Order: sequence, then C-alpha cells, then structure tokens
Amino acid sequence: MQAVTRYHLLSLGCPLQGAASDRRLRCPSPSSTSSAGRSADALEPVKALTHSVDETRALAEDIGRALLRPGDLVVLSGELGSGKTAFAQGVARGLGVTEPVVSPSFTIVREYEGRVRIAHVDVFRLDRLQELHDLGFDELLDDRVTLVEWGDAASPLLPADRLEVRITPAGEGEREIQLSTHGESWQARSRRLGEVLAPFSSPGKS
Ligand SMILES: Nc1ncnc2c1ncn2[C@@H]1O[C@H](COP(=O)(O)OP(=O)(O)OP(=O)(O)O)[C@@H](O)[C@H]1O
Ligand SMILES: [Mg+2]
Repeated sequence: MQAVTRYHLLSLGCPLQGAASDRRLRCPSPSSTSSAGRSADALEPVKALTHSVDETRALAEDIGRALLRPGDLVVLSGELGSGKTAFAQGVARGLGVTEPVVSPSFTIVREYEGRVRIAHVDVFRLDRLQELHDLGFDELLDDRVTLVEWGDAASPLLPADRLEVRITPAGEGEREIQLSTHGESWQARSRRLGEVLAPFSSPGKS
C-alpha cells in the first residue's frame, strides 16, 4: 500500500475570505487555522478493530442504520487504500441504498437515494475551495448524509459538527477505526455510538 498523505489544504487560493459568515464552507482565518473546523465540545474518540473489508462495511452499516440522519457530515481520513470507500459503502447500505456505491475519486461527488439521501464526496483531486463550492457542497449538507473522503484535508473549511472517522491499517487485512464526535448534535448520540461499536473488538481503549 502506498503511503500518501494529502495535506496541501484546499484553502489555497480560498476565494471566500471575508464573505464566509453566511456560508457553511469556511475559509480559515489566520488566527484560527489550527483549530478551525473543530468544536471545543469534541468527545473522547472510540476505537474499533476490523479484520476484513466486510467487517469494516458491517461496522459502518451499523453506524449508518443506528445513528446517521439527514444533515450529518462524516469526515473520512486515512491513507490511500485504507478503507474510506469501504466505510462509505457500509454506511450507504445501512441507510438503505441498494445500488453499488463506487469511489467518487473522478467525479468528486456521487449521490445515492436510500431511506435518506447520501452524498459521497472525494476531495483528493480538488485543489481549491472554490471547486468544492462550485459543486454545491453547501446545499449537499442541508438534507443529506454527506461523507467526505480525505475530509481531513479540508477540515478547517467544513462544519464543526461532524463524525470523524480515521482508518489506519493494522495487521494483515486489519484496520483500526477511530471515531470521534464533534458538536452538539453528536453529544446525545455518543453513548449509542459506543453501543454500536461494542461488537467490534477494540485494540485498546483510547
Ligand atoms: N479491514 C479492512 N477494512 C477495509 N478495507 C480492507 C480491510 N482489509 C483489507 N482491505 C482492503 O483495503 C482496500 C480499501 O479500499 P478503499 O477503496 O475502501 O480505500 P480508500 O481509503 O477509499 O482508498 P482511496 O484513498 O484510494 O480512496 C480494499 O482493497 C479492501 O479489500
Ligand atoms: Mg476511496
């Protein structure tokens, strides 16, 4: 697996500076770059360990079914081939999508209809925030479950209220999946998240 990290932030050339107050895509201000996009009310991360791609999908399916609702943002991070798309496939299944969910790498955004609408976004090939804005990202966030692969690269520009999913290869076929919840809307759901993860073996409490 090729280890590639993409951190040349989408804020390069950000055209929305100074006009972002009424937008949900936010340009980081110079003073807030390090913490922008993160809420102060982040809860302790929880971890799970999966032993196959099917188990990752099953975990994500349970999260989708039990926890996700329209307006939610799921920020997916992890190196190339770590399992971000697999996680999104599981979420989609949990939300009732029956058509195949494929990587949005080249199209940037793919949408699906399940019990709720889903937007699956991959920002890997975007170079500027304007491109994300042009794609109507703000509108996507309104009434869909939106999953963003490489979302950590755009983190300061995205709403603070989110579920963050970090996937890290562990042993052969294994992935450590760390989930952290941020924002008010997740506070009431964090306990349920722990319950949903309980069947998936944990490599150790975080
Ligand atoms: N436990 C596991 N969970 C998820 N994927 C796994 C696991 N074990 C092996 N894999 C393999 O890792 C790959 C994950 O591919 P996937 O496309 O989901 O990654 P990705 O993070 O979306 O990649 P990219 O950065 O290219 O978008 C698949 O080939 C899958 O079979
Ligand atoms: Mg992918």
